[in-house]
Amino acid sequence: MKIFEIMESKDYENVILCHDKTSGLKAVIVIHDTTLGPALGGCRMWTYDSEEDAINDALRLARGMTYKNAAAGLNLGGGKTVVIGNPRKDKSEALFRSLGRYIESLKGRYITAEDVGTNLKDMEYIHYETKYVAGLAETSGDPSPFTAYGVFRGIQAACEEVFGTSDLKGLRIAIQGVGNVGYNLAKYLYGAGAKLIVTDIFEDNVKRVVEEVKAEYVKPDEIYGVECDIFAPCALGAIINDETIPQLKCKIVAGSANNQLKEERHGDILQEKGILYVPDYIINAGGVINVADELNPSGYNRDRAMRKVSMIFDTVRKVIQKSKEENIPTYVAADRVAEERIKTIAAVKDNYI
Ligand SMILES: NC(=O)c1ccc[n+]([C@@H]2O[C@H](COP(=O)([O-])OP(=O)(O)OC[C@H]3O[C@@H](n4cnc5c(N)ncnc54)[C@H](O)[C@@H]3O)[C@@H](O)[C@H]2O)c1
Repeated sequence: MKIFEIMESKDYENVILCHDKTSGLKAVIVIHDTTLGPALGGCRMWTYDSEEDAINDALRLARGMTYKNAAAGLNLGGGKTVVIGNPRKDKSEALFRSLGRYIESLKGRYITAEDVGTNLKDMEYIHYETKYVAGLAETSGDPSPFTAYGVFRGIQAACEEVFGTSDLKGLRIAIQGVGNVGYNLAKYLYGAGAKLIVTDIFEDNVKRVVEEVKAEYVKPDEIYGVECDIFAPCALGAIINDETIPQLKCKIVAGSANNQLKEERHGDILQEKGILYVPDYIINAGGVINVADELNPSGYNRDRAMRKVSMIFDTVRKVIQKSKEENIPTYVAADRVAEERIKTIAAVKDNYI
């Protein structure tokens, strides 16, 4: 692996390999870009096939956080931690405290949080060693309702573009996955008068939405072909692909799932077919906006966090506008919005005091 070539190609700042013999810690912390502020990004624990895979994942995810945080209007850069190990077997207090010491040694250049394979308990162990950890139980709490609210606001903005109004009354919206985010999203959409069609692989999750928001149920493989105005993927990645695109009957794809496009070209195909795709990392930023509020000097404030999440409406509008002005797919426009913010803030003149 030619690590410096990779770092140079995408302008990475740091790749830090962390090892502790006693706890068995093997972790990679990547700081991609701190132009806007300290790098914020979660800590993932996974059984990677190789050390190279783990480093590549950390690099990819850290850069993704730079874009997500920048486009969300946060004064934060992008970073990520990857812990190599089985989250069901290899966790211990010592392992996360050891990682916490490494994070502390970065003196605030990187702030961690929960991610796939880690939980609140792990974050508490990290917190024994460093204050540079966000999303603890006693502060901003479960991010899912905030993510759902951001998706709801993003859907409203997309509807304003496609249907000329942000009023969702009477629209048919198909939700794939009614877990933490999908369930909360269903409640917002139902409250706004939308008609819901849902699917999930867990019967209990389906039962809850069918009863509470009068949703219609379809089998998991039927959701793509549902006659609807909006398809909201809230379960898996890579669901916009060569097999699913021909089935879609919607005008908008907008949901919380990460990495919805299997390949970038699938974003181009959606544009060619006249389906508005709201880029995933723009519309699902509610959780990170909420957790970032903890870093406010006056401490976390739920109302302020909700107000900021609500502004995803404006960010989605900005991305759509750019896509139209520059005649580019929305996933490209999203990256440009993020890159331009970083470039502009970096160029703001420094005054001598
Ligand atoms: N939780 C957050 O704050 C947050 C933030 C940003 C992005 N996301 C992304 O949003 C998505 C949902 O997150 P979540 O926290 O609600 O997860 P979750 O695990 O609570 O919910 C996912 C749901 O999808 C269902 N599902 C899985 N495979 C399915 C399939 N093939 N067909 C239909 N349903 C299926 C699961 O049964 C589950 O109910 C994920 O892609 C996640 O990465 C979540």
